[in-house]
Amino acid sequence: MTIATDVAAALAIHGGPKAIERPPEDLFRWPIVMPEDEAAVLDVLRRGAMSGTDVTQAFEKEFAAWFGVEHALAHPNGTAALHAALFAVGVGQGDEVICPSITYWASATQALNLGASLQFCDVDPVTLNIDPADFERRITPRTKAVVVVHYTGYPCEMDRILAIARPRGIKVIEDVSHAHGARYHGKLVGTLGDVAGMSLMSGKSLAAGEAGMLITHDRAIFERAVAWGHYERMSAGTKYFSGEPFITDPALLRFAGIPLGGFKNRLNQMSAALGRGQLRHYAGRMAEIDRAMNAFWDAWEALGLPGITAHRPPRDSGLTMGGWYNPLARYDAAAFHGTTVEAFCAALNAEGFRCTPGANKPMHAHPLFHEADVYHAGKPTNLAHANRDLRMPAGSLPSAEAANARVFGIPWFKHHRPEEIGAYVAALAKVARAALEGRLSA
Ligand SMILES: Cc1ncc(COP(=O)(O)O)c(C=O)c1O
Repeated sequence: MTIATDVAAALAIHGGPKAIERPPEDLFRWPIVMPEDEAAVLDVLRRGAMSGTDVTQAFEKEFAAWFGVEHALAHPNGTAALHAALFAVGVGQGDEVICPSITYWASATQALNLGASLQFCDVDPVTLNIDPADFERRITPRTKAVVVVHYTGYPCEMDRILAIARPRGIKVIEDVSHAHGARYHGKLVGTLGDVAGMSLMSGKSLAAGEAGMLITHDRAIFERAVAWGHYERMSAGTKYFSGEPFITDPALLRFAGIPLGGFKNRLNQMSAALGRGQLRHYAGRMAEIDRAMNAFWDAWEALGLPGITAHRPPRDSGLTMGGWYNPLARYDAAAFHGTTVEAFCAALNAEGFRCTPGANKPMHAHPLFHEADVYHAGKPTNLAHANRDLRMPAGSLPSAEAANARVFGIPWFKHHRPEEIGAYVAALAKVARAALEGRLSA
């Protein structure tokens, strides 16, 4: 890595020297693949065991132990795990599912395939997580479940969410795809609601290639998820790691042999093998990421520059960010003479500080939920079994609509290397100072 020391020089975007000449690629490489990971994957390959479940079940057992839950069920991806979770809590035709507008589409879009409708709700402008007050406002007698997303690792306000949901019998599904290992007052997120689904794809902080996991304390939810997409585990003779059959409920057992959802949710065991190795080292690697990311933000805050703040919980909040998937900076254009986040990021990228303006786009504005008649019902699929029009025009969710102008993705450090991290802080300061002085146009 080459670090330019003259951060007062002209901006690279204006022809000046780059602050970071050669980004240190190994500071960011992920997942970390060691010979033991390669050996485990090769073993599956050489045994021809890709379609078995022995490695996957070992992975599930270790996963459940790490999270401290009773049940873990592997899936080919997070989308499938969340789909199974929606079915397992009982979402069906005519129900409504509440979901924050700012998230990846797979958090809840599968509700449509169950005949349910999505009701989007707003996010908190600071955390970008579901706004509990708006969640409460949007509840109707048809609301069956809420999906909460611990967005880019920031834990949701679970106490408030549960206090709203539980008395009304609304099931709480946690989407942990961004937040493996994040803690809410000491408890791992994913263990607080009724069930959690999560992605374990390569880019995630806990990365098993293409994979997903469903976890729950609730045996009935687990059994329904098995029956939904794991036909080979449905028969009475198939034993779970607890020693019990996967399915004990006679109402499900009578369908043994054919999955209720018609889905085949078996995980490829090469991913399970990789996942086991990644899980074994995850606590240590996550702690290293946490040190690195906090070091970045601590150094930034020590400079005392306005306009950019960390998307991280306050130190004494009892919340932690886990693996800091896709870390974000909060951006206040007003502090920078109206410079847009896009222009600011263009200047940062020119310095060798890789970043992306915005976050996920608000879903409530997407035409899929306004127009798409996927199953030829003669009306938009999101309204196919609804008793009202749930379409939301622009202006409905102000925080979600403003979010993309107010954040940008920052480098995701995987190692605590203060000097190299310091170079990134200096690069950010170089661009921020120029923008504060009005040297960066909108
Ligand atoms: C918040 C969120 N939910 C769900 C998913 C879906 O997971 P997968 O891509 O493994 O299907 C993702 C993945 O990108 C995600 O970011």
